[in-house]
Amino acid sequence: MGITFQNNIFHLFNDDMSYCFMLSKYNDLLHLYWGKRLAAEELEMFFCPRASFSAYEENDGYYSLDVLPQEYPVFGGQDLRTPACEVILPDGSRISQPRYKDHKITNGKYKMNGLPAVYTEDDSEAQTLEVTLEDEQSCAEITLYYTVFENRNVICRKSVIRNKSSQQLSIKQAYSMSVDFNDMDFNYLHLHGAWARERHMDVEKIHKGYQGIESKRGASSAAENPFVALLRPCATEDFGDVYGFSLVYSGNFKINLEVEQYGTLRVQAGINPFGFAWSLKEGEQFETPETVMVYSGSGLGEMSRTYHDLYRTRICRGKFRDAVRPVLVNNWEATYFDFNEEKILDIVDIAAQLGIELFVLDDGWFGKRNSDTCSLGDWVVNKEKLPNGIDGLADKVNQKGLQFGLWFEPEMISPDSDLYRKHPDWAIRIPGREPHKARNQLILDLSRNDVCDYVISSVGDILANANIQYVKWDMNRNMTDIYSSALPAERQGEAAHRYILGLYRIMDALTSAFPDILFEGCSGGGARFDPGILYYMPQIWCSDDTDAAERMYIQYGTSMVYPASCVTGHVSAVPNHQVGRTTPFKLRGDVASSCMMGYELDLTKMTEEEKQQARQHIAEYKEIREIVQRGELYRLLNPFEGNNTAWMYVYKGEAAVFYFCKMASPNAPLRRLKLKGLDPKKQYQIDGKTYSGSTLMYYGLLLPVNETDYASMVIRLKECGTN
Ligand code: DGJ
Repeated sequence: MGITFQNNIFHLFNDDMSYCFMLSKYNDLLHLYWGKRLAAEELEMFFCPRASFSAYEENDGYYSLDVLPQEYPVFGGQDLRTPACEVILPDGSRISQPRYKDHKITNGKYKMNGLPAVYTEDDSEAQTLEVTLEDEQSCAEITLYYTVFENRNVICRKSVIRNKSSQQLSIKQAYSMSVDFNDMDFNYLHLHGAWARERHMDVEKIHKGYQGIESKRGASSAAENPFVALLRPCATEDFGDVYGFSLVYSGNFKINLEVEQYGTLRVQAGINPFGFAWSLKEGEQFETPETVMVYSGSGLGEMSRTYHDLYRTRICRGKFRDAVRPVLVNNWEATYFDFNEEKILDIVDIAAQLGIELFVLDDGWFGKRNSDTCSLGDWVVNKEKLPNGIDGLADKVNQKGLQFGLWFEPEMISPDSDLYRKHPDWAIRIPGREPHKARNQLILDLSRNDVCDYVISSVGDILANANIQYVKWDMNRNMTDIYSSALPAERQGEAAHRYILGLYRIMDALTSAFPDILFEGCSGGGARFDPGILYYMPQIWCSDDTDAAERMYIQYGTSMVYPASCVTGHVSAVPNHQVGRTTPFKLRGDVASSCMMGYELDLTKMTEEEKQQARQHIAEYKEIREIVQRGELYRLLNPFEGNNTAWMYVYKGEAAVFYFCKMASPNAPLRRLKLKGLDPKKQYQIDGKTYSGSTLMYYGLLLPVNETDYASMVIRLKECGTN
């Protein structure tokens, strides 16, 4: 691995990958190449004349930034494609043209200031290039940061914009990164969805003109995940060039894919410029979130495994990063708001008999909250429901052998709450206008320090005063009426990003103060499932949709970027509460077992036979959970393309294969499931029979012909020798 600067070419490389850009004769950074490792010193830029519409360098008609591939195009004259950065100067003009000033190469990875990011544990894992550009006239200075990794085909990028003038500048947009590919011969994959249908895969052809994805919802959102992959048209799960762009950010984002007039493709990812503006006083700087760029020469599968290992071990932190996660039961779908201590302890009694390790008390334990109409912000236990308080209940749950977990929605405020009556200005709302409620609630203005401090102390008090080992951190609405009473009129464009900075400060404070608590992110299911949250919380509730059939799609789509260690799934009752579908217990158990597994149903209503099934299922899950949590994922059958779904995890000579059938098919063709990721020279045991890795991967496992609707299998493999 290394970063070199020779013959005016910056070369960031490891054994498999090269990323190259050049310093032009006018001191611009021009993108050359990103892909399989090559000899960078042989690369040349192609300068050619274009139609005279494009502005060009004085006396040099071949040199126009409007047609040249750039590293970080700033709105500044020649280039009229979408800029990565646009700055408004004190005189109201928007032109600046920062050009190369200097650069620095260091070991390790750059740090962030209040924003989540990938980290290294040792400087030998990565190297970092900082290139600074300056525009003497506008006094805007930009530093581009690139980190390349020794053993991962990953480049992390962020940008920092500095005001070197004595006057105020305003940033209109500042993407984290920009790459200009030489051609447009790609498809792009994005993870589209809605509540209860998150992260469905969608692959579309890159066409001429603009396309892209974004969120203006104040959160990364269920509608689009902050991720795009570019695939060469021939690329598949296991073959071909794929480029991933994953933004480490939980707020409004945008990923641009722009094919300009000469057929090149510009990709940019960062904070959504919609409604955004940021003032920079003399000497101040603005830091963008980080984009994690992954190159795979072997299809989507390898891209996902690169993201998985990186996010599992170098974005997640703390004790639970590596700890085996407990099997839990959550009372939400069991009781909703209608519970008391007795009911909870009845559930816990059965949970203990089944082998469940953690009980989670969901919404409804505080204030007057018997429905979703009130009390958010009043984090005081409801003594009518829980006369012994949270600490008393936690102790009783502990005595029954389970850990205790608690639900919060710390970012919210109900208009019907003591908090709102005391501090109406703490809600995000526009003075003089009735704010728009969603789920009867408003959002706290986390761009204010006093509000963040209240959240830290009110939630922290509860956590400090009871034996709480898990927290579910929910967030149940999108952001409207964006405005902060703490900001002057000309700085209102900062409110949404300042909210996210406040959120990260709160999450950092609480997760650092309570390192022994396992935090799980949630946003009405998976509406804020992004690497930013994973930096603070190592797992996220994947979706409110607990239907096992729908979960095949959601979990498959989620697996494009996120490792199973971050994805939670629960076994719930039938008919399913979201879609009304009835699926077999085995399918529900098997789908949930393929991620971090729990239960979410009224255990007291289970028959003896169901309890026996659950007991066995939980015991079997405990045998494979480490493989699921730490294994390498290989996707075998895609639910978006066919009737059957399968994926497998391989870990330290063992594997767990998950196979799900949707609809039974009469007289179905004979099928074999070809496994992946095994050692062809090794032998593996399956149910007492021995197969060689080569047989399992190239010939495959025979699948049953007469499947029923929603049939499923979990197949365990254990290495047992060499061929
Ligand atoms: C939405 C979550 O996704 C659910 O699991 C549950 O916690 C409810 N909120 C509670 O209001």
